[in-house]
Amino acid sequence: MAKERGRPRTSTVLWDGVQRLLAEAGDDAGAARSVVDLGGGTGGLAVRVAALGHRVVVVDPSPDALAALERRTAEAGLSDRVRSVQGDAAELSSLLPAGSADVLLCHGVLEVVDDPAAALRAAHATLRPGGRLSLLVAQWPATVLARVLAGQLPQALHALSDAGHRWGGTDPLRRRFDRASATELAEAAGFTVTEVEGTRTFSEMVPATCAEAEDGAALLRELEARAARSPELLALAGHLHLHARR
Ligand SMILES: C[S@@+](CC[C@H](N)C(=O)[O-])C[C@H]1O[C@@H](n2cnc3c(N)ncnc32)[C@H](O)[C@@H]1O
Repeated sequence: MAKERGRPRTSTVLWDGVQRLLAEAGDDAGAARSVVDLGGGTGGLAVRVAALGHRVVVVDPSPDALAALERRTAEAGLSDRVRSVQGDAAELSSLLPAGSADVLLCHGVLEVVDDPAAALRAAHATLRPGGRLSLLVAQWPATVLARVLAGQLPQALHALSDAGHRWGGTDPLRRRFDRASATELAEAAGFTVTEVEGTRTFSEMVPATCAEAEDGAALLRELEARAARSPELLALAGHLHLHARR
């Protein structure tokens, strides 16, 4: 088997967390779930979830992303399990029936939408009572640290002091979060947050030569897994994965 090298593209912590949420979303842990991937983009995660046997609806405003998703789904032979719907988080309630989803994935979306609170309220309405939310948000302290480590001190200072924790005018994200702000937003929408994990705590800062060294990827995975639930290291994580229940 080919040796795994370099920085992992998908966080193992995140994928393990998503699988736990899928299992917890009903009485029979192995049953197929009805999943919505809000802002699911080109469907990297949707296809992995569908490959486990679940039905996934990807909602995204980008026609290009959805075209790529459809190609990817067809190549994987999963077109019968993945449906794409072009639309915005704000109009989710008019796109999908209320209470229709067992699990709703919302990864990397609250950072870019006009109104994150409205997006989460729509997500809440789309889930059935007892359904699970998988919420992934970019965390601002990691951005400050990354800019300092890269020697980009003006951007670090901007990210630290800006209300939305953007590093500057060309930052592609409109805002970043931390544990308190993400939890507060989810709870204000009606969710109960059951777990918060840190993902990509070290993978963005480890030197490439180290990650590519013999056993580097395996050691990094082990470090990430142990850091994910460390209260002390949570603030350093590049992303936070919130598990929540409707
Ligand atoms: C950073 S990408 C994340 C993609 C995917 N969820 C992932 O984790 O790889 C952000 C996605 O949000 C989508 N998006 C942007 N504005 C949106 C909105 N108002 N409602 C829903 N999705 C939106 C974009 O088209 C893009 O696919």
